[in-house]
Amino acid sequence: MNHAANGSGIALLDLKGVKKTFRTPDRKERTVLEGVDFRLAEGEIVALLGKSGSGKSTLLRIMAGLIPANGGQVLYRGQPMIGPARGISMVFQSFALFPWLTVQENVELGLEALGVHRDEREDRAKEAIELIGLDGFEGAYPKELSGGMRQRVGFARALVMRPDVMLLDEPFSALDVLTSETLRADLLELWDERRIPTKGILLVSHNIEEAVSMADRILVFSSDPGRVRAEIPVGLPRPRDPESAAFRQIVDEVYGLMTASVRAGAAAAEPMTIGYRIPDAQPGKIASLLETVAEPPFNGRADLPALAEATELPDDSLFHLFEALRALGFARLAAGDIFLTPSGHAFVEAENDQRKQIFAEHLLRSIPLAAHIRRVLDERRGHRAPEDRFLQELQDYLTDDEAERVLEVVISWGRYAELFDYDYNAGMLMLPEDEDDDEEDGEDTPRSAESPRREDVSPPAE
Ligand SMILES: Nc1ncnc2c1ncn2[C@@H]1O[C@H](COP(=O)(O)OP(=O)(O)OP(=O)(O)O)[C@@H](O)[C@H]1O
Ligand SMILES: [Mg+2]
Repeated sequence: MNHAANGSGIALLDLKGVKKTFRTPDRKERTVLEGVDFRLAEGEIVALLGKSGSGKSTLLRIMAGLIPANGGQVLYRGQPMIGPARGISMVFQSFALFPWLTVQENVELGLEALGVHRDEREDRAKEAIELIGLDGFEGAYPKELSGGMRQRVGFARALVMRPDVMLLDEPFSALDVLTSETLRADLLELWDERRIPTKGILLVSHNIEEAVSMADRILVFSSDPGRVRAEIPVGLPRPRDPESAAFRQIVDEVYGLMTASVRAGAAAAEPMTIGYRIPDAQPGKIASLLETVAEPPFNGRADLPALAEATELPDDSLFHLFEALRALGFARLAAGDIFLTPSGHAFVEAENDQRKQIFAEHLLRSIPLAAHIRRVLDERRGHRAPEDRFLQELQDYLTDDEAERVLEVVISWGRYAELFDYDYNAGMLMLPEDEDDDEEDGEDTPRSAESPRREDVSPPAE
């Protein structure tokens, strides 16, 4: 049970309209967070789910007072945040322990910085070590511990501060499934039995089940810029049974919202221009996901959580794949389900060569950047173009990193579809070498730089 009714307790953290910009190396300004409204009330665990790079860690660092916001308001217990807040402890994904210090010494470190007297340091560290189940390992060095034990040291380091608020930044994601489950259960037991003085916990996660098993409320974070997009209350008593119908229903709901936010983002912020942020999804993975959805038990329509389980893919790579299928017109998403379109079915049933052809048609029709590259290559003398030419165009829409990523993905799709080829060493895009075979009977000489302008490779009709 949560300590207080959802969100009705005293506000521990209160953020209004928080904004954060970073300056990129080429001195451009990049807005990572904008308009973030958030409240952590006394007595609650809140989970924050969002895509990689959406600014979750940045937000946590702002809440801990480690970095300032550029706009908006950050209050901790009603007071503006100025510098690192005493009552707030963080636990990170990487354990960041000092290898030359023992467990006991690693745990005492934060107290030392506060000037706590040696005897008290020792006692408090022992207490924290015992709480988190590390007793007997006080004298061990990090390298002698398993990943799970190391992260327990990470928690002990936070707990020794007797934190009022704990900010957990994906603390379980580097651990294997069983280890993370045990550690989660132990932490929840400390919380639910009030054996720790902590009044509120914010957990960043990219695992929907983890969020549903721990949190009183789940917030879905959007990207570019990051902000809280949706909220789902989880009114179930803990410990929660992940197999129960009520649990599954909330998992479904979160999936539905996350895919909805992917679609809303794609539709609103990213019309289909050449600047469309092609999702990170390799053609091989796209093909195997289509196959999985087509085959039993799904037979063309799959419940998203069930599909996540069947594919064993992390949620964020799965969302990229969904978005790729949707953008290419191979699948549609509705009400927490994904179902194949007729072309999605046709793709699955086709042989390899035909699959490439179907993929090529969809790529040219649906992804303006792919059609644009193909058109440029068709029209250019020699049918070659340096990648920088396209990167520069993309940089009008996207940050430099994102432009590179998008170009890399479209190249991998274009190569699979045999629409164009790429020379890594020269950084050149070109038409595939053997394309003449298909069109000019039997002539199999590789295209020379002097080959004539071609009119015969216009995109397939819609
Ligand atoms: N100090 C910094 N200077 C410039 N850019 C930064 C800085 N810190 C973060 N960023 C950028 O801000 C964006 C958000 O980063 P952040 O680490 O907060 O995301 P995240 O949601 O925690 O991602 P992940 O799920 O991968 O941990 C990224 O594009 C990152 O490159
Ligand atoms: Mg992060």
